[in-house]
Amino acid sequence: MEMKLDHDPLALRAEEIRELGYRAVDLLAEQLTDPSLPAMRRGDPEELRARLCGPPPAGPRDWDGLLAQTARDVLGPISRLAHPGYFAFIPASSTFPGALGDLIASALDIDAGAWGSAAGPSQLELVVLDWFKEWIGYPKDSAGILVSGGSAANITALACAREALLGPMSDRVVLYTGDQTHSSIARAARLLGFRPDQVRILPSDDGHRLRLDALVGAMDADVQDGRQPLVVVANAGSTNTGAVDRLAELASICRERGVWLHVDAAYGGFASLTERGRAALAGIELADSVTLDPHKWLYQPIECGGLLVREGRLLAQAFTINPDYLAEYKSDEVDFSDLGVQLTRSARALKIWLSLNYFGTDAFRTAIDRTLDLAQLAERLVRDSRELELLSPASLGVIAFRRRFEGVEDEKTLARLNAELVAAFALSGRGLVSSTRLRGLYAIRMCVMNHTSGPDNVRATLQWFAQAARPDLPTLTAPPAPRDRHPDVRGGWADTGQFDARTVRRLPLFADLGDAALDVIIGSARRLEVGAGESVVLRWQGTRHFYVVVSGAIEVRSGDGGQLLREIAPGGYFGELAALDWGAGFGYVRTADVIARSACVLLVLAPAALAEILRLAPALDRELRATARARLLEL
Ligand SMILES: Cc1ncc(COP(=O)(O)O)c(C=O)c1O
Repeated sequence: MEMKLDHDPLALRAEEIRELGYRAVDLLAEQLTDPSLPAMRRGDPEELRARLCGPPPAGPRDWDGLLAQTARDVLGPISRLAHPGYFAFIPASSTFPGALGDLIASALDIDAGAWGSAAGPSQLELVVLDWFKEWIGYPKDSAGILVSGGSAANITALACAREALLGPMSDRVVLYTGDQTHSSIARAARLLGFRPDQVRILPSDDGHRLRLDALVGAMDADVQDGRQPLVVVANAGSTNTGAVDRLAELASICRERGVWLHVDAAYGGFASLTERGRAALAGIELADSVTLDPHKWLYQPIECGGLLVREGRLLAQAFTINPDYLAEYKSDEVDFSDLGVQLTRSARALKIWLSLNYFGTDAFRTAIDRTLDLAQLAERLVRDSRELELLSPASLGVIAFRRRFEGVEDEKTLARLNAELVAAFALSGRGLVSSTRLRGLYAIRMCVMNHTSGPDNVRATLQWFAQAARPDLPTLTAPPAPRDRHPDVRGGWADTGQFDARTVRRLPLFADLGDAALDVIIGSARRLEVGAGESVVLRWQGTRHFYVVVSGAIEVRSGDGGQLLREIAPGGYFGELAALDWGAGFGYVRTADVIARSACVLLVLAPAALAEILRLAPALDRELRATARARLLEL
């Protein structure tokens, strides 16, 4: 093919740009206003592969045909977050002016990484960040940045905290957070080099808030152990229940000890636009850093997250790097690429600024306030229903409940029946809810945050759950029988560890294990002998081993006052709460003292070995998790 050097093969004339845009907007107008489109439609992988796979065409395709295929094959199987019955996860119904802001930013390829390349968008970012600061009560000299979402904001915050207080990573430092914290914190900690023994998961109180006594106890235990408490992550609107931790008290505990307090207000933070939201979030202004996600409760199109850092200079200190090749890119004004991990970055402020100016702040405040009312309506309806049981009251738009079934008390069956209802509701196309576990109990979680939802959608959803026919439970397929090894082999090389196969098999917990799991125990279990009256585990410590009592008797006592909680005889076990993986390998702090009542022999497993055994033995995994749940309920 002859190359024409004076011809741009990708250029469009103004008229063509208009024409393509009009057609795309026509498609959007249909997609955004068609009430028959379901809240979620799952895709069939095989069908989608057949429709979409293949090399790109060498020549052009007709735009109308492309849009028609997009509507059918790409936009068919998606969740519609703006559907008025979408109450799952954290819904994020945006606004069209906001989406047009994204279109403008991307059509013009604005790089908001530096003032020099995007002074207007950089100034806009400063402006919207100033709005956020004012809404949460942050000082003027705090700094911030818009990022892709809450996960990115959280890792940016933790990196900033580590750089400000420590510099390079150290084995001594510890991060503390409650068991209701979003998993992005575990991922951030892992990526930043926190090993499993450097993150303490703390139990929460009856209101699903991080327990302050556990935090203080765990920090003291770590300091005594020569460790350095570095950062506490609190929630202002937890994903599970909308709970807000005791922010002011946490701030004073952290300040006293020179520890960084990061508040994850990814979804809850924008409730600060309303009076009751501001009251619920009191104390957030005292945090060292705050995650606020505009693509959640500020109704911005995905992606849009945000981070504010109280002592603004620390953000630039953590991220600024000046390579030679960027000399002309950088300036004396703010360069947002020096406040986070992205160099080239989109102009996210434009959509926020456009949508808030187009509708006015009052409209956003009213939309948020209205959803707070709707969540309270949902709570009232659940309380008034004979069929539904409230598991967590409305808090910042989230409520949790489940369906009761006559004659069903067993938790496992209740959980399966409720899970079937959640799946059937999704298939009905009427809406979507999601589920979680609260103190081990299966809970249907309803997040009422969409500006598109009204009282009828809330009523219809709860009515559906109250009245749906009891589902037929599919029979569970039995797990495969463990493969047993020939007794000669079992008594041979496998017996070389600190425990032999016979002793391990005699422990009821391990009696039915398959060979692979048994081998891991034999290869990794340590034998521990303790004398009468000796402590094995101290409450609030960050140790993570799992113990099975081989002989002797053990007492479990609550730390305060030493009340006897339970006795453990040979064959029993303890330590599962700390040893189980909460996410990214992190586990709970110890929640009780454990003392030998008589001389004992204990079989001890490190958390990594236990994780491997549980991977190989799903029935044991279920048993330990059920015990952990029951013990959490006791706390
Ligand atoms: C409290 C909280 N933090 C962080 C996140 C993660 O945010 P993103 O999905 O924007 O990364 C979420 C998401 O729902 C959240 O609820």
